[in-house]
Amino acid sequence: MEIVLGIESSCDETAAALVSGERLILAQRIASQDEAHRPYGGVVPEIAARAHVERLTPLIEEVMAEAGLTLADVDAIAATAGPGLIGGVMVGLVTAKALAMAAEKPLIAINHLEGHALSPRLADASLDYPYLLLLVSGGHCQLLVVEGVGHYRRLATTIDDALGEAFDKSAKILGLGYPGGPALEILAGEGDASAVRLPRPLLGSAEPHFSFAGLKSAVMRAKAAQSPSTSSGRSFDKLRMSGTLTNPAHAELVEAHAPYTDADIAASFQQAAIDCVIDRTTRALASAGQVTALVVAGGVAANLAVRSALEELATQSGLRFVAPPLPLCTDNAAMIAWAGIERLRLGQSDPLDFAPRPRWPLDEAAEPVRGAGVKA
Ligand code: KG4
Ligand code: ZN
Repeated sequence: MEIVLGIESSCDETAAALVSGERLILAQRIASQDEAHRPYGGVVPEIAARAHVERLTPLIEEVMAEAGLTLADVDAIAATAGPGLIGGVMVGLVTAKALAMAAEKPLIAINHLEGHALSPRLADASLDYPYLLLLVSGGHCQLLVVEGVGHYRRLATTIDDALGEAFDKSAKILGLGYPGGPALEILAGEGDASAVRLPRPLLGSAEPHFSFAGLKSAVMRAKAAQSPSTSSGRSFDKLRMSGTLTNPAHAELVEAHAPYTDADIAASFQQAAIDCVIDRTTRALASAGQVTALVVAGGVAANLAVRSALEELATQSGLRFVAPPLPLCTDNAAMIAWAGIERLRLGQSDPLDFAPRPRWPLDEAAEPVRGAGVKA
């Protein structure tokens, strides 16, 4: 069986993994840079690129040692070649090229989104094409029919924020730090999802696209309108002083001193987001054609409330539901190695001068969506 070394460095996780054709993760390492970026409230590309340079080679040495293998035992080297932050992508891709050249092994340039899209097949041998995939991460929010390796039909995308981005921004408003998605999920578990009325953008609209910018703005207003006695984070005065509260209607809300907690806001946000996801996915299922399963992947697929709502939708639709185990949802190198195995099996590899692609859509034929890029 083939063995592929996978490398991931497109955002703020430096990762290396060895995966075999039997779907075994022989060894893997993920070095998170959360600490380095936390003071800035988001990923700083230069800091990320430098951290990848420092960490990647030792991580690769560690996974090789743990698996007891040398490069001679590996059948190919797969690295994320985009989309992502160009500096980080270059670090991983150049490293992979150097190893491929030195060991005389094929290089496989992987689209990071393909890594996410095929990750459910690493975890589940019985998942066959075509499947409807909800790909939800920090940078992407799409519904795609995965017809085969390299064959993706995009049915929907977001016209503004990605779902993970909406979680992170809402978490930031609630003072939960960065990256806030996982912290928001935990806080939501303690709150009342009906406590704060929030909008559900695009609910019921004909095409299955997403929009989350308006929901995030509503979270900001809800936080500003919260009674100081129930707030556990930043006070509304701070928001007022920072100039966030310029609209008189919002100022009125502040006067109302609504008695909900941060946990209530978190729970209400999460429920609104889930309602949108379920409505949009239901719409996509209607136009997807015959599919074998409803599948979710990407960082937000680690959210248990999102997973269980999708599972219920799959059951109602008479479909299997497949979601990768939690560590395979957020960025990792095992999914890149697995995508490499799928491509290797089709006899595919890439030249050593393959250029990194900071922008690289999965469905290159998909039309831009009207209104896309307009952020609230
Ligand atoms: O796939 P990923 O690791 O990186 C990208 O390719 O973007 O996704 C990261 C995103 C972040 O926005 C993070 O907050 C979100 O996934 N995320 C979550 C959870 N775990 C990660 N969002 C909500 N609930 C979670 N449990
Ligand atoms: Zn990702």
